[in-house]
Amino acid sequence: MRNTANSSEALGDKKMRKIFQDKTVVLGVTGSIAAYKIANLASSLVKKGANVHVIMTKNATNFINPITFESLTGNKCLVDTFDRNFEFSVEHVSLAKMADVFMVAPASANVIGKIAGGIADDMLTTTIMACKCHKIISPAMNTNMFENQIVQDNIQKLKNYGYEIIEPASGYLACGDTGAGKMPEPAVLESYIMKEIAMEKDMAGEKVLITAGPTMEKIDPVRFISNHSTGKMGYALAKVAMLRGADVTLVTGKTNIQKPDFVNVIEVQSAREMFEAVDNVFDNQDIVIMSAAVADYRPKNVAAEKIKKKDGQAVIELERTDDILATMSARKKEQFICGFSMETENMLENSKAKLEKKNLDMICANNLKVDGAGFGTDTNVVTLITKNDVKELPIMSKAEVAENILNEIKRG
Ligand code: CTP
Repeated sequence: MRNTANSSEALGDKKMRKIFQDKTVVLGVTGSIAAYKIANLASSLVKKGANVHVIMTKNATNFINPITFESLTGNKCLVDTFDRNFEFSVEHVSLAKMADVFMVAPASANVIGKIAGGIADDMLTTTIMACKCHKIISPAMNTNMFENQIVQDNIQKLKNYGYEIIEPASGYLACGDTGAGKMPEPAVLESYIMKEIAMEKDMAGEKVLITAGPTMEKIDPVRFISNHSTGKMGYALAKVAMLRGADVTLVTGKTNIQKPDFVNVIEVQSAREMFEAVDNVFDNQDIVIMSAAVADYRPKNVAAEKIKKKDGQAVIELERTDDILATMSARKKEQFICGFSMETENMLENSKAKLEKKNLDMICANNLKVDGAGFGTDTNVVTLITKNDVKELPIMSKAEVAENILNEIKRG
């Protein structure tokens, strides 16, 4: 499901800073060689404006010094419950109340067992016990320990209590073994934190299907017909819907941009493949947004061998592809269906006709000839058209357009 940490791209640095500024992130660090990597995570979160507090177990201090975290976060790094040199009298309760998200990374088998067993005998375990916010655990240990049934049972128990568990990566471990048990890189951990706190989860439980990017229609083994779509608008929609808590499926043509985290990505090439991918999942969706630039025509015959040049003109016979949007909307039940319409003239008129013809709930129209709109740009200028309303939006980032589209759908 997840790929790499790129959620901040979804919203732009300025907006991300605004979000992080009011947020308190508590990082629990336990005794594992991966503990040193949490310095990078703490630093990155602080740079984004978050108030970061680090709690270490005593064992963790063998791997990284609390002063490192204190220097990076500007907050006292808490280790011992009975330390009396700090401002709050019951520090663990104060921190637990302040936290917007609590991540334990790296989480040793020992701390996982203690939390699962309700044992609170140090600063980390007492604080997490008093904490009501979302809790994320990133297990990191030797493969045999990780696969031990007792550890697995404890992890399952935590899952049942609503803790989010980050699947450890596989690879070469510090102990010399190769296998599962590696803490993912700090950027990955950060994407989990971001997912939790970036936006209000007003789309939780909703299933959203988005199509994006171009399709490629083969002419022969080396050539194809396609278009200039880069997928940026569809990917922005997928990211923002995911950050708002939706269960997102992204059916995408070939693009050069990073796949969004925490989204079910289905990669396709041709219009036919996109049709089949959409067809497979459409019936279970609540919201369907088709931003892909689907080829209207494909070569009638695909040559098995490379077509060699000849004198004179060449003609490729084309046939129509299936209209995915029209086919799905003809069989829709409760789904809210939103299409896209890219025009170079008569935008409103043509787009309204498409809304009607394809029986859509909404269409997002944009004029390729307007500055800041169209293929490859980071901005867009769209008009949201429904049966009873036409809303022109000013130029804004594709992430902001995505937010507006989803707001409009939520209202609709
Ligand atoms: N679409 C689709 N399947 C196709 C073609 C388009 O699902 N085979 C979707 C696009 O994803 C987009 C909308 O339909 O949401 C665009 O409508 P369409 O009528 O295809 O627009 P144009 O191709 O721009 O129409 P025209 O060629 O008439 O200008």
